[in-house]
Amino acid sequence: MLTDEIKAQLIQTAGEARKWAYAPYSNYPVGAALLSTSGRIYDGVNVENAAFPATICAERVAIFKAVSEGERDFVALAVVTANGGSPCGFCRQVLAEFGLDTAVIIADVEGKTTGETTVGELLPGAFRPDDLERGEG
Ligand code: THU
Repeated sequence: MLTDEIKAQLIQTAGEARKWAYAPYSNYPVGAALLSTSGRIYDGVNVENAAFPATICAERVAIFKAVSEGERDFVALAVVTANGGSPCGFCRQVLAEFGLDTAVIIADVEGKTTGETTVGELLPGAFRPDDLERGEG
């Protein structure tokens, strides 16, 4: 169960990770923290690149770290930015691959929650693994 205490812990972890963001071009550091059903928390930060499109968002770094360590089921993701910005479309799509019920907590650097939703609400009508199966043949 996603308690207020766990939400606060995720926001804190995401906020602390944010200091490792590599964002020299946008100056918009982002921190994320992803709780798996195993109980582990994976953090992530945005990592920008001089070739701008090679940049990756904090949320996807957290997801890829988790999946690369065998995790596929997630309870909640917190994302922390200066102004409580919302996850981008690419990150919504990557989150949707692993489940629509994952809670998404959006917060600012003060730790104030600016939004609380789910992946399914953030990306209605997501293209999902079973869409590929229906398209076969
Ligand atoms: N960014 C994230 O890390 N997550 C999002 O969901 C939105 C955008 C990053 C990408 C880029 O490094 C900077 O924020 C500005 O777009």
